[in-house]
Amino acid sequence: MVENLRLPAHLAVENVADDDRASLFAVAEGIDDVVGDWLARCGGDGRLIVTLASHDFAAGLLVMIRSLRKVSDIPVLVLKIGSWRFEHEAPQVAAIEVPPLRRSGVETRPDLPHLIVTLSKLWAFSITTPKRIAYIDADCLILRPIKGLLDGDGFAAAPDLLLHYRLRAFNTGVFSFTPSADLRRRLFERLPELSVADGDQSVLNAFFEEWRQLPLGLNFLRSQALVRALAQDRHLRILHFTPGKPWVDGPSHPRDHALAPLEDLWTAHLSDAEYREVKRQWHQDVDAVEQNLTAWASRSAGLYRDQIAEGLKQTRRRQRLWLAGLALLSALQTLVLVFLVLRG
Ligand code: GLC
Ligand code: MN
Repeated sequence: MVENLRLPAHLAVENVADDDRASLFAVAEGIDDVVGDWLARCGGDGRLIVTLASHDFAAGLLVMIRSLRKVSDIPVLVLKIGSWRFEHEAPQVAAIEVPPLRRSGVETRPDLPHLIVTLSKLWAFSITTPKRIAYIDADCLILRPIKGLLDGDGFAAAPDLLLHYRLRAFNTGVFSFTPSADLRRRLFERLPELSVADGDQSVLNAFFEEWRQLPLGLNFLRSQALVRALAQDRHLRILHFTPGKPWVDGPSHPRDHALAPLEDLWTAHLSDAEYREVKRQWHQDVDAVEQNLTAWASRSAGLYRDQIAEGLKQTRRRQRLWLAGLALLSALQTLVLVFLVLRG
């Protein structure tokens, strides 16, 4: 059911650096044209929901759209990173492969590989034809109607109480804005000077100094301790699995065990076959972790063996020194004794 949209061949480039103005604007306009045509074909009321996914977020994307379709029929556009096939049973869904948007000269941080991928979220600002756009991360689960998300004007987002509890900053897992060619130009022109320390989140926080606060329930971060108490609360509309994804095994924090019921809310949207597939992935992850542990343990066992052997060697050397000292001392004592006897 997913409509696969394509950028014209000359724009389907490998990636776009944020200081390459010509390519940035050409690709942005290309995305706008293709998406504009699709929206004109599918009708709708001028509202659009955009999301972003690389292949490792496919399970998240499946569930996000499935849960969204229980409460909303607004068209959904998937910005796809990489060429992989995405299928979904939901109507009014289109996908378009976009080139990864990268910060010129900045390589991916090996500890946070997703940060640079998420920069491509900014392609959402290429689109200018809808009246209002809401962006929703593929690791979100829609629990209740998202009323209020697409209302109003300007840029709107919910505060990030996890990363930025000292600052007043918003989380970029869910936000809405009124698109325009002017907004696109202003954002993309300033892009090279905006910090990418936190991926798209720091870019957008630096750019939108004025923002309207959405209710926390429209982007409730899983890691916020309160989420447990509020999970059943009627104010909780969108649950954002950050950090820690329900389709990836392995707790990232001891507190995660306490949050396990939230994972059940997510898996409830899977068919039996999909659930088995997710479990198979979990088992694969666990196997990989176990293999790492075994390799690590045997390496460090070897290390400890060497350290123990070295320690023993040093202890024996020290023992020998003591014994030699003692022998010397008793020899001296004997000499003194002999001397005293002979004199006496
Ligand atoms: C956080 C946000 C996510 C964003 C990422 C990178 O994980 O939850 O939405 O894409 O930071 O900025
Ligand atoms: Mn997210």
